Order: sequence, then structure tokens, then C-alpha cells
Amino acid sequence: MQPENKFGSFLDLGLAATTPYPLNIRIESAQGVWLKCEGGKKLFDAISGVGVSNFGHGHPDISDALHQQIDLNLHTMVYGEFHHKSTLSAAERLTSLLPETLNAVYFVNSGTEAIEGALKLAKRITGRRKMLACTGGYHGSTAGALSVSSNLERKAPFLPLLPEVEFIKFNDVSSLQEIDSTVACIIVETIQGDAGVQIPSPTWMKMLREACTKSGTMLILDEVQCGMGRTGAPFAFGAFDIAPDILCLGKALGGGMPIGAFVASRENMSKLSHSPVLGHITTFGGHPVACAGASAALGLLQKMNWTDVERRGELWEKRLKSHPEVKEVRRIGLFIAVELKDADAVKKTILKGLDVGVLLFWFLSVPSAFRIAPPINMTDEEAEEGIQLICEALN
Ligand SMILES: Cc1ncc(COP(=O)(O)O)c(C=O)c1O
Repeated sequence: MQPENKFGSFLDLGLAATTPYPLNIRIESAQGVWLKCEGGKKLFDAISGVGVSNFGHGHPDISDALHQQIDLNLHTMVYGEFHHKSTLSAAERLTSLLPETLNAVYFVNSGTEAIEGALKLAKRITGRRKMLACTGGYHGSTAGALSVSSNLERKAPFLPLLPEVEFIKFNDVSSLQEIDSTVACIIVETIQGDAGVQIPSPTWMKMLREACTKSGTMLILDEVQCGMGRTGAPFAFGAFDIAPDILCLGKALGGGMPIGAFVASRENMSKLSHSPVLGHITTFGGHPVACAGASAALGLLQKMNWTDVERRGELWEKRLKSHPEVKEVRRIGLFIAVELKDADAVKKTILKGLDVGVLLFWFLSVPSAFRIAPPINMTDEEAEEGIQLICEALN
């Protein structure tokens, strides 16, 4: 569809598509697992706005919390000066779900800003400059986050980015030798999202943690996409029985509101408070309305029934694997990549999905697969309806 406006926002002018095949869907409203488009068409949201609407659209707990906070106040002062109940409540709920060592939360405005804050914090804690990242990793689009992301094509026009960044192979034991006492941090997506739901081995994760502890290197886990219940647990690192030094969150954290966070120990986080005063300044960080959304979303996360999530994930995996067009399914919880036998069929499947009534989406870096990440609180009936639509799109 061609953009209708001659003068408009970057998006309205048709300049903001994230893939060569812009969907250009006009949304009227959204409820639960359903997106309602202008003209009356309904789409099952099988990607949750790319990992944001983990609790569906318009959840009453989230809507009520937002309305209440809007009636109280919006922005009052730059982050770090005033206290708001919603910010405190979001931090309390978040830390209640994390290991004791992760007890200091710094709220920012997006996933990519959480990564920026985490990289800066690691430099402050260690006094070192060199940073390691992993092949296949995606961490955002601002200069620091792009520097530690691995897709060269996306970086090339913006070079030079941050110096002293090196890449090691994700999930490769011998590469861990690179982690030594010269390295400030290594940043790793616990489950790689953009690379097509790549799940590391428990052994590699344990060895990664050990190598960081031994060399005093900060282990930064990026759970912007795979956190907040996506993998069938509150946070993905729990399944590996390790904890990061710094955890980055975003996307689903705000229950649909824009917010990110980096979390560390209070002792480590205190390094950012002085010399210079507040080493990461943000006007809107900890915004009371975004935090009201986060607090409500975290309240839902605390109450999730993980057995239900896994049962629905298993059902979708089984049905997808038995489809003749499907080559491989990678899944953890309700985070799913579907590799097709014919890579050209990815575009056809996504476009046919729009016809039959289900929203699927590309991975930025994996042309042979499409992503599935439905709301984790869908009911059994919705799960059945959703997988039927996906199979119809694949037919
Ligand atoms: C793993 C990961 N980290 C960081 C980001 C950046 O988050 P945002 O786009 O909210 O800035 C993303 C976004 O897709 C992501 O998937």
C-alpha cells in the first residue's frame, strides 16, 4: 500500500518500515490477542508487537493502573530528583522476581538505552575499556548498542562506532578464553532473538559465568526481548541457574508503555552516582505513567501459571513441526522461530497470514525463518484458534 500523506511523520511518509515489505496496517483498536484494523478486519497477534504485549492488549490491570496514574500526575521532574509511588512499586515488584544480588534498578526509556546504561556502568565498575559481544547478537540501534550488535550490514554506514569492541562466537566454549582481566564486560542475549531464537547450552552459560567471575568481567545479560515471561519463566537466565552482574530489560516491561531498565547490585550501581554526578542522566527515565504500566505488568508476571504457558508452547511446537513446509522449529516457552524448507515461502506465509487473519513477522537477520511470540496469557481456546490460523497461513 502506498502512503496517502504527502506531508507527515517518518512513518506516514512510508519511510519507517523495518523490512522491505512494509505491512502498513491501520490499527483501530486492540484487545487481548486480537488487533482490529480499520475496515473491520481482525488479526490474531502472534508476535505481541515484537515481544511487547506479553499480557495481551488492553489488559484491565494495566489499563486501570495507567488511568489512575494519569489522573494523579504525568511528568513532574527529571529522573533522580522526585519519588513516585509507581516507580517505587515497579522497582519493588521487579526485584522481588530477581536474585538478591540484582537489587538496584535504573529505569530508562527503551531497551537500547538500557544497553547504553549497562555498558557505561560496566566501564565505571571495572575501570576497563574493552568490551566483548557475541556473533548473532542484537542489542538496539543507538551508537553503543549498535557497536555491540553483530550484523555488519546494519553497522557499516555508521562507522566508526565504539572502539575496543570485539566479538566472540555465541555458544562456543573455546571463545570464552577471550574473557580476561582486560575486559570490562561481555554482553549476551540469554536467548538470541533476532538471530532466530538461538538457545545456548547450559554448560556454555555456566562456563561464561565462571569466566566472568574469575576475571572480574561484568556479565551483562540482555533480556530486552527474552525476559518478562517470554521463555516460560519470569526471566530467561533462571533456566541456566546463573545470574548476571547487570540485567537489561525493555519491551514487555512496561505492559505496552515505553520503558527500559538496567539492574545491578546496589554496590555496583552506586558507581554511577558520582564522579561525574549521575553518570547516566535521563529526563523521562522512571516516568510515573510508564512505571505504572511496568508495575501492573510485573504484577501479572508474578501471578503467571507457567505450566499453562509450557503446555501451549508444546502444542504449537507439535503442530508446527508436523507441517510439511516446516524444516525446523526452535522454541523456548512461547518464543518460537519457524525455519521453512523454502526460504522464499517466509514472505508468502507472512503475507498469507494477513489474509487469513494472523500477524506473523520476519527476523531482521534470518531470511529463512519467521517469528512467533504470542501473548503468554492467551487461553487454551485462543491458543487453538491461533495455531489453526498459523497452519492455514503455512498451507
Ligand atoms: C535483545 C534486544 N536488545 C535490545 C533491543 C533494543 O530495544 P528497543 O528497540 O526497545 O530500543 C532489542 C529490540 O528489538 C532487542 O531485541
